[in-house]
Amino acid sequence: MSSATAFEVHRGRGPFNAAFFSLLGPYIEWNVRHHKRRVFAGLPGTVVELGSGVGANLRYLQPGSTLVAIEPNHPMHHRLRTAAERRGVDLDLRDSIAEHTGLPDRSADTVISSLVLCTVTDPVAVLAEVRRILRPGGTFRFVEHVAAPPGTVTRSLQRALRRPWAWTFEGCSCERDLSTLLHTAGFARVDLEPYRLHSPFITFNTQIAGVAHR
Ligand SMILES: C[S@@+](CC[C@H](N)C(=O)[O-])C[C@H]1O[C@@H](n2cnc3c(N)ncnc32)[C@H](O)[C@@H]1O
Repeated sequence: MSSATAFEVHRGRGPFNAAFFSLLGPYIEWNVRHHKRRVFAGLPGTVVELGSGVGANLRYLQPGSTLVAIEPNHPMHHRLRTAAERRGVDLDLRDSIAEHTGLPDRSADTVISSLVLCTVTDPVAVLAEVRRILRPGGTFRFVEHVAAPPGTVTRSLQRALRRPWAWTFEGCSCERDLSTLLHTAGFARVDLEPYRLHSPFITFNTQIAGVAHR
């Protein structure tokens, strides 16, 4: 049984993060665009997204398609709605958490996430939930930041900065081995590619992008 049952919106950091991702979104996007183009290519007409934030991934949906957005952080909602309207995407905004989406079993063809498995309370429960809601043959497509290899300078920095980083970014951890979690989550196949960004946010530079097949 998962311990994650609710998302606590922080009065200060919720709006701060909404503003941060609006302002820095284009820079982050520029850094990860090749990876997103690859894994988010050819999205179907209806997509479930975990932690949509202020709408960084709307650009990968065709106008007229539907985004079922699982986003419990209210300060993100206004910007997300505005961005969806601008892109011509129908937004079905759900105030639930990725650990318990409330969506029916085997109801989704495609689930996507970017920079979310680092922040959810229980990534194992989230991956089980993704498997539950995906139809057989469906895909989970992700772009995420992960722990650097043990013994590296980046890994030491991720460890040293873990508290202020988590405080600022509402629980975000740079120390998660998400590749292992994805490979052991019970998907039929997982294709993922590790890569490194060269941004000033050193602890965030070790990333993976890929597709898990239900
Ligand atoms: C780092 S932001 C990334 C936002 C967006 N996906 C992007 O790439 O810009 C993490 C997002 O995950 C959301 N989040 C955190 N915990 C969550 C949970 N348990 N379920 C769903 N979303 C969650 C946050 O509200 C935030 O919007």
